[in-house]
Amino acid sequence: MSTATSASGAATSTTPTTGGFEEPAPSALLLLGQGRDLASERGVECPGALPAPSDPDLAERARAARAALGDSAFVLGHHYQRDEVIQFADVTGDSFKLAREAAARPAAEHVVFCGVHFMAESADILTAPDQKVVLPDLAAGCSMADMAAIDQVEEAWAVLSDAGVAERTVPVTYMNSSAAIKAFTGRHGGTVCTSSNAQVALRWAFDQVGGEDGDGKVLFMPDQHLGRNTAVLQLGLRPEDCVVYDPRRPGGGLAPHELEAARMVLWRGHCSVHGRFSARNVAEVRERVPGVTVLVHPECTHEVVTAADMVGSTEYIIRALDAAAPGSSWAIGTELNLVRRLARTHPELDVHYLDSTVCFCSTMNRIDLPHLVWTLESLVQGRTVNRVVVDADDAHWARVALDQMLALPGL
Ligand code: 13P
Ligand code: SF4
Repeated sequence: MSTATSASGAATSTTPTTGGFEEPAPSALLLLGQGRDLASERGVECPGALPAPSDPDLAERARAARAALGDSAFVLGHHYQRDEVIQFADVTGDSFKLAREAAARPAAEHVVFCGVHFMAESADILTAPDQKVVLPDLAAGCSMADMAAIDQVEEAWAVLSDAGVAERTVPVTYMNSSAAIKAFTGRHGGTVCTSSNAQVALRWAFDQVGGEDGDGKVLFMPDQHLGRNTAVLQLGLRPEDCVVYDPRRPGGGLAPHELEAARMVLWRGHCSVHGRFSARNVAEVRERVPGVTVLVHPECTHEVVTAADMVGSTEYIIRALDAAAPGSSWAIGTELNLVRRLARTHPELDVHYLDSTVCFCSTMNRIDLPHLVWTLESLVQGRTVNRVVVDADDAHWARVALDQMLALPGL
């Protein structure tokens, strides 16, 4: 569990787009982040005041505050961040690259993380104790990470123990999980993975329990789709080697013999953004855009990934478009901020969004320019706001799991 020292104010959001690359519209939906929810992955409250979004000087204020902070601050930006925010990032990246970048900045007193809460927690774990990691809006959580709570994970382990398979099981958690769950994997000899290293992480995990041809197992949390896609498409396991553990059902909804027969025990979690792409979207775009290459993130369902032409992390998607032949057509299945940016930075390509009705990641989008200005100006005034701190014991064991990930071969 992590805590936060203080929090910012009013909330902002975006609404689902109705097509193409439209601008986000104001929305009334914003209970998220108001009040306190310590059971959730973020567990924060958001009182206080922010600069008005209509302030025409916001960008200038952000520039001035950023310049005043100099090397004492380092700003990280995930690829799903808004344009208005990502322009102030010193480094942009996927969750794996940003974890590495955070670990490589010992001189910065403040690491300002423009991303979501589990990423900021990982940065806190990987940075020195005197470095302070700040998340401009503490309500920027992740609905997938919130689908696995540490108590449920402990219970699942007890279920595996009762079935007699826990000692042959290695827990692997996706980066998109709380620090407490990363710590759990560290305590049980497992590792963390991201979408760019899941294949290597799973191979390593199976090697700990007799290899991919033995009877060892992986408990994969919390994204069932990344787990299944990696196991089946990259490790060559069969779909029927994967079972889904539902934390809301007694025994996970699985009988002991099903656990015994399984190779991959997949947590029943998913991304609410990527989970909305469908195989029908793929068929439609192929019909609409002849010769299109469909490229999707591995958080999409197995059906979508198998219907697509290519699959990879956000960093992989960016590299693929950077290397694409001018004039080629692409349909991208990932978060809309990134796809719109790719379309803009690659005018020589014909870039489509895989499903025109899918929304932005609303929690990533909570980091907006008013929150960034408020954060940077507070730091200039000597006030550390919205600090994300992981408690010492969890930080120790989560670091064991994260270091294991960073040491995986070939990364
Ligand atoms: P990446 O690992 O590709 O950065 O993805 C993180 C994420 O949250 C995708 O939804
Ligand atoms: Fe979480 Fe999905 Fe948003 Fe990524 S896109 S931060 S997995 S909700």
